[in-house]
Amino acid sequence: MDHKLWGGRFSAPTAEDMALYNDSFRYDVRLAECDIVGSIAWAGALEEAGLISADERDQLVQGLGLVRMEFADGRFVAMSSDEDVHTAVERRLGELVGEVALKLHTGRSRNDQVATDMRLFAIGAARLVGDRLQGLQLALLGQAERHTATVMPGYTHLQRAQPITFGHWCLAYVEMLERDRHRVEDAITRARTLPLGAGALAGNSLGVERERLTELLDEFDAVAGNSLDAVSDRDFVAELLFAFALTGIHLSRLAEDMVLYSSAEFGFIELADEYSTGSSIMPQKKNPDSMELLRGKSGRLIGNLVGLLTTLKGLPMTYNKDMQEDKEPFFDSLDTLDLGLRVAAAAVDTMEASPERMRAALDDAMLATDLADELVRLGVPFREAHGKVGRLVRRGIELRLPLRELPLAEFQAVQPEFDEGVYAIFDFARSVARKDSLGGTAPLRVSEQCARWRDLLES
Ligand code: ARG
Repeated sequence: MDHKLWGGRFSAPTAEDMALYNDSFRYDVRLAECDIVGSIAWAGALEEAGLISADERDQLVQGLGLVRMEFADGRFVAMSSDEDVHTAVERRLGELVGEVALKLHTGRSRNDQVATDMRLFAIGAARLVGDRLQGLQLALLGQAERHTATVMPGYTHLQRAQPITFGHWCLAYVEMLERDRHRVEDAITRARTLPLGAGALAGNSLGVERERLTELLDEFDAVAGNSLDAVSDRDFVAELLFAFALTGIHLSRLAEDMVLYSSAEFGFIELADEYSTGSSIMPQKKNPDSMELLRGKSGRLIGNLVGLLTTLKGLPMTYNKDMQEDKEPFFDSLDTLDLGLRVAAAAVDTMEASPERMRAALDDAMLATDLADELVRLGVPFREAHGKVGRLVRRGIELRLPLRELPLAEFQAVQPEFDEGVYAIFDFARSVARKDSLGGTAPLRVSEQCARWRDLLES
C-alpha cells in the first residue's frame, strides 16, 4: 500500500526512476530524532489550540515515543513508499496508534517541518563540532605545556626566520581553533529561530500558538517573524558549512606543518604508529596519512559549502525542492569534521617532538634580527642597523663561517663599539626569552598563555 502524503490528485503512480530521484529517506533518516521531537511539540500545540483532545495528544505522543525508540535501537523497518523521514514517521505512527495519526499533520506542512528538523539537527551538529574542536585544542595545549621552552626555527616564506618555541607554535593553532569554535557558536544563535507553524508558506489558520512552540521546544528562543522567510531560509546551513570549511582550511595548515615536520628533512616530530601507515612496496616507509587526509579533506568541506551556496542562488520564494539538497553536504561535512577532529586530536596528543632535531635546524643567521636590535640599543637607527648586519651575514657567507665564528674585527668593521659581549647574542634560548612582548614567543609568555588556555578550555 502506498503511504504518500499527497496521492489524492494523482492518477498515475510515480515512475521508478523519479522515486529514486525524489526520495530522500536514505539520508534524511538522520533527522528522525529531530522530526519526532518537533512532532511531539506540534501535538502539544494542536491540543492547546483545541484541534485535538488531550487523549488524542497522549496517543500521538506515546506513539511517537515508540517510533522514536524503533529508530534509536535500529528496529525501524523502512518501506519503499517512505519518500522521506516525515512520511516514514507518520506512516509508522499510523500503524502503531491507528486513525488518530491522521490528525498530526493538521496545520503543518513538510516545509515548516523540515526547516525545523534541520535547525534542530544543525544545533546538535554544531555542538558536537564545538566539542571536537575543543578536544583538538586540548591536545595542542598538552604539547604546548610540555614544550614552553623548546626552541625551534620559526618560518616565513618557509625560510628560516627567527627562533620560536614549539609551545608557541602549538598555541597558534589553539587560537585559530578558538575562532572556529566561536563561529560555530555564533551560527547556533541564529539557528534558534523557529519556523514551525509557518505552514507551507503563508502561516497557519487554525490558531496554533507559535510562541508556545518555543516553550515546548527548548532549543528555540524566538519564532521566525515572516512565514515566507521561515520556510525558505537555509542561511544557518550555509553559515555552518562556512564555519566547517574554514575549520577545514585551518586543519589543512596544521596538517601541512605536521607533514613537513615529520619528514626526515625536518625531523621535528614523529607521529605515533597508530596514526601513520606503511607502504606496500617500500618496507622502510612510515607515512603521515592521518595528516595528509586531514589536509585533503578540506577539499570536500569547501566543496560542500560552494555546492549549497550554488543550490540556493537564485531560488524563487519560497520553498523549492532544490532545498532538499542541503542535507547530504551538511551531513558529509559534519561526519568529515567529527572523525577528522578526533583523529587530529589523537595524532597531536601522541606525537613525539624532538627538541634535538629542532635545535639542529637553527642557524646563527636566524639571530640577525637580534644583532640588529643590539645595534639599535647602541643608538644606530634600525634601517642602518639592518644594512650593517646584512653585511655581516654576507661576510659569513663569503668566509663560510657561522656568524658566531666571525672574528671580532669583522663585527667592529661594521660597528666599532662592538666588543666581546657581542657573542652573547648567539644564544637561541636568550633570543626567544627576549621576545617577551604580550603574545610573544618567550617561554614565560607561552607559560602564561598555557595557563590562560587551560583555564578557558576546562571551564
Ligand atoms: N524532503 C524534503 C526536503 O528535504 C521535505 C520537504 C518536502 N516538501 C515538499 N513540499 N515536497 O526538503
